Amino acid sequence: RPRVLSGIQPTADSFHLGNYLGAIRQWVAMQDTHDTFYCVVDLHAITVEHDPKLLRQRTRVSAAQLLALGIDPDRATLFVQSQVPEHPQLSWVMECMAGFGEASRMTQFKDKSTRQALDRVSVGLFTYPILQAADILLYQANFVPVGEDQRQHLELTRDLAQRFNTRFGKTFTLPEAYIVKDTGKVFDLQDPTAKMSKTVPAGVVELLEDPKKVAKKIRSAVTDTGREIVYDVENKPGVSNLLSIYSALSGRSIEDLEKAYDGKGYGDLKKDLGEVVVEFVTPVQAAVKGYLDDPAELDKLLAKGAERARAVASRTLAQTYERVGFLAG
Ligand code: TYM
Repeated sequence: RPRVLSGIQPTADSFHLGNYLGAIRQWVAMQDTHDTFYCVVDLHAITVEHDPKLLRQRTRVSAAQLLALGIDPDRATLFVQSQVPEHPQLSWVMECMAGFGEASRMTQFKDKSTRQALDRVSVGLFTYPILQAADILLYQANFVPVGEDQRQHLELTRDLAQRFNTRFGKTFTLPEAYIVKDTGKVFDLQDPTAKMSKTVPAGVVELLEDPKKVAKKIRSAVTDTGREIVYDVENKPGVSNLLSIYSALSGRSIEDLEKAYDGKGYGDLKKDLGEVVVEFVTPVQAAVKGYLDDPAELDKLLAKGAERARAVASRTLAQTYERVGFLAG
């Protein structure tokens, strides 16, 4: 079975619809056909200022959401990044493979770092994509299901792997980004030209927020001029975004939805989609609560996942250390 690895940051109180439709939905589907490794990347979460108590809480809530959304710990290896020390260990080696200029060209770093004084930007934020490369390469992943915004990090990962292989002999599998066409980028409901993002709350649908609020956010989504409900990203970004979300959650094709809403108004579409989204989040919220009611059990499940992950990661790390010329441990 081909290998899959992906990760998500525990940096907010809840995942949002973009995280789910852009990434997690694919994680769930791939459990049946691939050998899957999924991690909550808490090491990445400390690249920006954070509160320790909140991080611990959010790490558990993140794991609980993944389970509630359908990650099955018997079929997938679900773990927390900091519990597998091979991640930062391989990351150091990869940092020494990466060029300073190459890392400086990462657009996510540029976006996040230009908003503040450079002395307030951590070096960890700069090397963030290299740790991400280590996450992937440790598991010899063939595919990495992510949203569109991670494409450049995946390119970097391939470049680093290729460079290492050329210099020291074939060690790493070159991973491919697995990005779905329709929901690889879910847009903000208030600004349908920007991606839905944890840092811009207005048009973001959080999976764990009050269902009434969820419906309201959908009903107040920005739509476009004109009246027709048609998929046209260029001229109707708002409606197109709603149609993509609707189609993904209901399993109905976009053409089918266009037909069904022919002659109806934006209000009808938004009301119905609101109901679809509420129907989706309600059982997820109940399941999350169930997992959080027993944190000891959740921690145990994650410890088991980390153990399984280490069995694979330690092999890759040992081989890497041998190739770069470290003495055998
Ligand atoms: P993160 O935590 O920001 O987001 C998790 C996943 O959600 C996707 N995503 C979206 N997809 C579609 N539309 C959106 N509006 C949207 N917003 C977020 C992201 O693309 C991502 O797949 N660097 C990664 C975490 C990471 C990782 C890894 C991923 C660390 N190590 C190894 C893959 C493999 C990140 O910050 O994701």
